[in-house]
Amino acid sequence: MSKRIVVTGGTGYIGSHTVVELQAAGYEVIIVDNLSNSTAAVVDGIEKISGVRPVFLELDCNDKEGLRRLFQSYPDVRGIIHFAASKAVGESVHKPLEYYRNNIVTLLNLLELMPEFGVQGIVFSSSCTVYGQPDILPVTEEAPIKPALSPYGNTKQINEEIIRDAIHAGLPFKSIILRYFNPIGAHPTAEIGELPNGIPQNLVPFITQTAIGLREELSVFGNDYDTPDGSCIRDYINVVDLAKAHVLAIVRMLETAAGSPLEVFNLGTGRGVTVLELINAFEKATGVNVPYRIVGRREGDIEKVWADPRHANDVLGWTAKESVEDTLLTAWNWQKRLRDR
Ligand code: UD1
Repeated sequence: MSKRIVVTGGTGYIGSHTVVELQAAGYEVIIVDNLSNSTAAVVDGIEKISGVRPVFLELDCNDKEGLRRLFQSYPDVRGIIHFAASKAVGESVHKPLEYYRNNIVTLLNLLELMPEFGVQGIVFSSSCTVYGQPDILPVTEEAPIKPALSPYGNTKQINEEIIRDAIHAGLPFKSIILRYFNPIGAHPTAEIGELPNGIPQNLVPFITQTAIGLREELSVFGNDYDTPDGSCIRDYINVVDLAKAHVLAIVRMLETAAGSPLEVFNLGTGRGVTVLELINAFEKATGVNVPYRIVGRREGDIEKVWADPRHANDVLGWTAKESVEDTLLTAWNWQKRLRDR
């Protein structure tokens, strides 16, 4: 059986780490990426780690004919992991149509082509954002989906519904939807990591850029939430741990008859950490001070969310292994590598 997997968004943050883990598990990877939020040099980083250069095609998944040519050139593709998407929450509010096109048309193109080329399964990158502020914590996969707070969040919900309807209609493929909590850190080799575009919107890249002196101080968005220290709680998950879950999902979906045609898994640690605790953990792990100031709440922020990962633990056989401190150290080593480049 072919071991060929297409990874869309494979030069991106989570995508690149997943390509490395897929290669380690013996899969042959074709990366499809339009480089809108990454660079082709990421392919070099992947090769340095794994010793194998993945096939790389600079292609936008909105280009259906381009995708068709890809599947014609590689008729033995077994599965897809679909990371390619726009992901800046704030930007999505100002450019909704761009977000709907990038995040929805791309999935439709892939789903329409899969039966044509006998592609047997698709793993989809979703987000805990679909739960909004959950009523019960930790949050399980059965928790209700709450109205999205941004076009970005809405695209994730719509994508999940499109996949659900396609499977319900009996289209001849399987799917696993992975709901990520907050991915952080970098590969332990510091050959690949997160490459934020402009001013980072996410917490950890902002912390590492502040620690290295690129930013003056970190703004902590609110200390009046109903949490032990008043700052928001998230479930920060190591990106390599997260990447490994994708390999298990591919194996389960393509190599076993287990499960149903559509499965959904939370990928988190099960531990909630406040923003202030995360800053302290970073300082403890690295010995580097992070100047910060408490400012007002950020619009649209969820107060607290962390995963119940038992379904992934029990069914997928996956557990988050790395500690927050060790993970923050990998993020710091990556930031230093970027400086020294
Ligand atoms: C956000 C999205 C999530 C998306 C993810 C991907 C929401 C509710 N969630 O996650 O759907 O998948 O981005 O990019 O929009 N913080 C600060 N100062 C900063 C930056 C962040 O205090 O400079 C705080 C935030 O208030 C939050 C925590 O750090 O409490 C994490 O923020 P962030 O890294 O942006 O992730 P989310 O907002 O959880």
